[in-house]
Amino acid sequence: MAGFKEARGDLQLESVTKTFGDFTAVDGIDLTVPRGSFFALLGPSGCGKTTTLRMVAGLEQPTAGRVMIGDTDLTGSRPYERPVNTVFQSYALFPHLTIRDNVAFGPKRRKDKDASTRTDDALELVQMTQFAGRKPHQLSGGQQQRVALARALVNHPEVLLLDEPLGALDLKLRREMQVELKRIQTEVGLTFIHVTHDQEEAMTMADTVAVMNKGHIEQLGPPAHLYDLPRTRFVANFLGQANTGVGAIEGTDGEHLVADVFGTKVKISRARSQVHDGEVLFGVRPEKVTVSRQQPQGVGNDVKGVVRDVSFLGVATSYLVDMPSGATWSCYEQNLDVEPIDLRPGDEVWLTWNPGHAFGVPVEEA
Ligand SMILES: Nc1ncnc2c1ncn2[C@@H]1O[C@H](COP(=O)(O)OP(=O)(O)OP(=O)(O)O)[C@@H](O)[C@H]1O
Ligand SMILES: [Mg+2]
Repeated sequence: MAGFKEARGDLQLESVTKTFGDFTAVDGIDLTVPRGSFFALLGPSGCGKTTTLRMVAGLEQPTAGRVMIGDTDLTGSRPYERPVNTVFQSYALFPHLTIRDNVAFGPKRRKDKDASTRTDDALELVQMTQFAGRKPHQLSGGQQQRVALARALVNHPEVLLLDEPLGALDLKLRREMQVELKRIQTEVGLTFIHVTHDQEEAMTMADTVAVMNKGHIEQLGPPAHLYDLPRTRFVANFLGQANTGVGAIEGTDGEHLVADVFGTKVKISRARSQVHDGEVLFGVRPEKVTVSRQQPQGVGNDVKGVVRDVSFLGVATSYLVDMPSGATWSCYEQNLDVEPIDLRPGDEVWLTWNPGHAFGVPVEEA
């Protein structure tokens, strides 16, 4: 039988749980990460992301459940027995070795006869060939991060784990490295699992995003799906901005649910609501809301509010509008006209949106 190290296929977590004393850090996670995909684990601090990665790497053993790659059960095996490498936020390069020797470290230790070629390839992949002779302290943070990546990729792991690898970089460099990482993943075609608490980072990079909260996965899917149709309040608020309100469902009108929100009737597509009676938290994304002085006819939902703030952003103008419910909604108007509608704080406006763009989720957090 082939060893753990030769395991190939999708990564699977089966009811994986990790408790520390009486605290449950990871609560029965079921997850399949297709081989060769770029997968992001997104969630707030303390939700269990690192603990999950550590169980995949073998640095931590699950209290219950199994970690599989393809048909191979890795549960209980040691980190060095697994075809898994990790890149951490702190690059942890060897300070006294050159960049080249840092990258060559793994293959040399394994007495890989292709160590030299592999090292060249890995340096080339992360565009660090020209810095091969330097020591880590002679590189910028972004460059060190590339070296850390090369040092993991040179081992050709089946799964590469990235735990907030861009966390220490400034915003501009971070954006550049996001594009870089995506290019590298496409080029090498390995399974990448990227942990972050930056929703924009997760959305721009990953094929699939799993939103984690308090040790469990709230929702998983392509970024655009999660953004368009969140299934919980947590996901609605964690991934992008959401304008929300709580309504009491009173009945239906064709394909739509009708909810009463502070005396205003709001329609939500029935298919886009997780709740069909009682109270619902409905939401609509800022770019789907239109602001106008006059009440528009026939759009669907409209509510009168009062402008609180107007910010000119160049490509768009952003409005904050106080709603009758007490909530403040946000919306954007693309600056298509030379003269945008001249709105000031205190002006009364109508906000409108298509019922097909709203979503409904349970009011209570799970
Ligand atoms: N060895 C440990 N002993 C006790 N509790 C732990 C241990 N490791 C993690 N925890 C707890 O488990 C929870 C999840 O921790 P984890 O490091 O997985 O969070 P995270 O999602 O990676 O957070 P962050 O975004 O801040 O890195 C936290 O409440 C943490 O305090
Ligand atoms: Mg962490």
